[in-house]
Amino acid sequence: MTTELIIQRPDDLHLHLRDGDMLKVVTPHTSADFGRAIVMPNLIPPVVTTDQARAYRDRILASVPSDHPFEPLMTVYLTEGTDPEDLATGTREGLIRGVKLYPAGATTNSDSGVRDVNNVLPVLEKMAEIGLPLLIHGEVTSPEIDIFDRERVFIETILAPLQQKIPDLKIVLEHITTKDGVDFVKSCADNVAATITTHHLIINRNHILVGGIRPHYYCLPVAKREEHRLALRSAAISGDKRFFLGTDSAPHTTGSKESSCGCAGIYSSINTLSCLAHVFEEEEALEKLEGFASLHGAAFYGLSLNPQKTKLVKQQNPVDYPETIAIGEETITVFDPGFPLYWDVKNLPA
Ligand code: DOR
Ligand code: ZN
Repeated sequence: MTTELIIQRPDDLHLHLRDGDMLKVVTPHTSADFGRAIVMPNLIPPVVTTDQARAYRDRILASVPSDHPFEPLMTVYLTEGTDPEDLATGTREGLIRGVKLYPAGATTNSDSGVRDVNNVLPVLEKMAEIGLPLLIHGEVTSPEIDIFDRERVFIETILAPLQQKIPDLKIVLEHITTKDGVDFVKSCADNVAATITTHHLIINRNHILVGGIRPHYYCLPVAKREEHRLALRSAAISGDKRFFLGTDSAPHTTGSKESSCGCAGIYSSINTLSCLAHVFEEEEALEKLEGFASLHGAAFYGLSLNPQKTKLVKQQNPVDYPETIAIGEETITVFDPGFPLYWDVKNLPA
């Protein structure tokens, strides 16, 4: 039985760090275990220009402990007013690594998002020309579409036609939750990829709804049926370079989730690597974890590998992760995978 695994230091290719006090509290959890993270721009107000992304990057760097080797990779929030030249400038500088498409109203802080992709085609064409990836929250927002169908319908009605219109555009379909998402990515060339979260490999929709509503398992896109979770697991352990880790770790205060209208988002930065080692061991695919967490995402974004390594060690007794993290008078509730975590994370120097 394998009880030790050494992998290249991982990257988190989809992460929410927020701002202010929240940023200060959560950043060290990511920078402890990850070399880089693609940081989402859905602040209030959103990060919509290169200058705003630069200022946000500086605030993030100010909250990284000095002994953590960590680089935030910045994104800009696509609006119908985005200036392609501003993106080109940020990309040339090496600052902007992706542009996030939120269909307006799809999720937390997405009100400034795009109402119709046809209104942003000139921006997308420029992005294809300069190799800047489009990071997509792939859900339709029409009220008549059932929430469990919103990813599939987005793929069929918006993503597939867009991909045919601009076949060279680099696309990451973020946090896929369905077999449809997996199949779509597999049907494309390798300029189309997908992130998969830790929690979508572990929970299905029963976890949210059976025996009472469990708001800490609620996120968007919402977890789907078991067959979809299994499809995500197969993709994650397949070794296919188009699938890589993006935790979508998204902190909210416990109070704002345990509410009559609770926020979407699951906080997993602190225990993600332990959860993933558990999942990959369960799938008898521990040797595929490094590709998923450390190699495929870097390759897609054209990054060299992190110089450091990470050692995962299976302990006799469960590793002690906090259930909650203090934030002022409030807390953030940590993702509970529903099983004890035996894999401990040790960061090795370069
Ligand atoms: O569950 C989610 N939370 N999904 C998203 O797309 C956004 C995120 C957040 O920012 O809280
Ligand atoms: Zn997200």
